[in-house]
Amino acid sequence: MRIALFDSGLGGLTVLSEAVKQLPGEDFLFFSDTLHVPYGTKTKQQVQGFVRESLNQILREDIKAFVIACNTATSAAAAELRQEYGFPIIGMEPAVKPAVEMNRDTGKRVLVAATPLTLHQSKYTQLVSRVDDHSIVDSLPLPELVTYCESMQFDPEVLLPYFNEKFAGYNLNDYGTLVLGCTHFPFYRSLLSQVLPKHINIIDGSRGTIRRLRQVLAERGLREGRDGGNIRFACSSGEPSYLQKMRDAFDLYHKRETVLEGEKV
Ligand code: SIN
Repeated sequence: MRIALFDSGLGGLTVLSEAVKQLPGEDFLFFSDTLHVPYGTKTKQQVQGFVRESLNQILREDIKAFVIACNTATSAAAAELRQEYGFPIIGMEPAVKPAVEMNRDTGKRVLVAATPLTLHQSKYTQLVSRVDDHSIVDSLPLPELVTYCESMQFDPEVLLPYFNEKFAGYNLNDYGTLVLGCTHFPFYRSLLSQVLPKHINIIDGSRGTIRRLRQVLAERGLREGRDGGNIRFACSSGEPSYLQKMRDAFDLYHKRETVLEGEKV
């Protein structure tokens, strides 16, 4: 049985990259809702409907877990889907808690970048009020970054002015951490590190999500012990050109992350 990972578009590939590293023996199905991307500028009710439609397509296949590799879809739909289905449903959460802990004694602030819908959901506002006891968290909506990513726009000449404009209203020396609260955003980690002061850490929630997936699979005796799983790509529109784009974007991201990780060792 496969583990299904789901996103509105290409962003969840950053989570798939982490999943392949942590769970090399598993088979994955990566499904993008190309008919409705982007989600971050839609209403909660619309996104709930889109996630359900996609899950119905995914369930044509036997799956053992469903990872909502999209912060917007998680905050809109994960809780209600968990009431209805017996298989594990794992979602994303912006890494606000670790960011607040990292900065508690440094006097620095935390900036959370995500889609407008994620930032307006009670799931996010409740998370912030639970962990941000010294009011150090600020939020920055970056909906255009999802659109750039979907068109595979990674040109520094386009992106660097965009980031400079978005950060213009912030005194960046006050910040210690940027949280990437949308799974599309890690594609821009190295460009972001060029515009942000060196002391700012850039973090995302993929590692924690996949650690949780590993734990849940182990608890239910669903872990695959063998070597060398495979990945199947699918999308709601079924467009072959988008399937190719998914493969290209995954290769691009996964290879770069593997090289960066090797450099850290
Ligand atoms: C989007 O579709 O707008 C991005 C979703 C996300 O990863 O939050």
